[in-house]
Amino acid sequence: MIILGIETSCDDTSVALVDAQKSGFKILENIISSQTKIHKKWGGVVPNLAKREHEKNLPLILEEVLKNNKKPDIIAVTYGPGLEPCLWVGVNFAKELAVKLKKPLIPVNHIESHFLANWIESNGKNVKFPAIVLIVSGGHTILVLAKEIGKYKIVGETRDDAAGECFDKVARILGIGYPGGPIISKKAAEFKKRKYNIKLPRPMMYQKNYDFSFSGLKTAVLYDFQSRSPKIRKSQDYIREICFEAQESIIDVLIKKTIRVARDFKVKSIILGGGVVANKNLRNKFKETGKELGLEIVIPSIEYCTDNAVMTAVTAFFNKNKSKNWKTLKANANLKIGK
Ligand code: KG4
Ligand code: ZN
Repeated sequence: MIILGIETSCDDTSVALVDAQKSGFKILENIISSQTKIHKKWGGVVPNLAKREHEKNLPLILEEVLKNNKKPDIIAVTYGPGLEPCLWVGVNFAKELAVKLKKPLIPVNHIESHFLANWIESNGKNVKFPAIVLIVSGGHTILVLAKEIGKYKIVGETRDDAAGECFDKVARILGIGYPGGPIISKKAAEFKKRKYNIKLPRPMMYQKNYDFSFSGLKTAVLYDFQSRSPKIRKSQDYIREICFEAQESIIDVLIKKTIRVARDFKVKSIILGGGVVANKNLRNKFKETGKELGLEIVIPSIEYCTDNAVMTAVTAFFNKNKSKNWKTLKANANLKIGK
């Protein structure tokens, strides 16, 4: 079955063509057009600019994807959660295409697709249920108990900023660019020796719930930054140290809380997904901790952590029966997963 995936939930326009079989997935095409350059100067995604870019890029990318390939049997589109104007571009485009090609349309939940990104290369071989799923991206920090594919229950969430948002805001405070995650990770890797004795909090880490909060961490970075002289603020030693500390703090909290919930629910594996999981330190620390505790940690390849339409197509494969009523499909910016 050939599935065409369309993903426009944030600032990446992506279209992919996947040959989906029970035995696994073969990627025929995967094109991602990043808008980073456009949003960079604003220090974050500007929804209406993103919408305009999606409108401009989608027809061009689709043409490229279909050029040397078979026509799809199914069309899949992300309809939420995400930035509303951006989601609508994908949904309307997908509906028109479904009418034109006379094929069914499957609505895809973006959070579920970050989870099912783990099926792209390995067909979920190392996943054992029940599992705890941690999705960490620019828009989400959420812990989900998965009994199987399709059976989800939210057990924890951020009460304010998402972890990726925290990376992005910290980078903006430090004036080092956008998106913050990859830049902070690079600066943190260059950090060698403590010089400024920066101390950042680990928000909610020891609280006996499974929720997160990252806005206080961002404020702590702001206060530290403001307390330094203009010369120190610009120095690479300071930037590297504070990036390292901020990254450590985010990773510590994510690991501690995920391990706690995994133990409490006695799950068989921990599954990660979302843009922040592209972070090398986070990946390594999760793997080390998993090994110590005898817990299976399942992580997508770096390229499938950030937004892509391959995961959208793969998710549609597991939701093939959901094409009913697609003609009235609406974007849902606040779409939830499970109960
Ligand atoms: O999943 P994603 O592409 O889009 C959303 O659904 O939000 O995630 C984007 C987020 C951004 O906040 C970005 O800073 C973060 O993922 N990110 C990273 C890294 N690469 C991307 N965060 C930490 N380390 C990275 N290497
Ligand atoms: Zn995403």
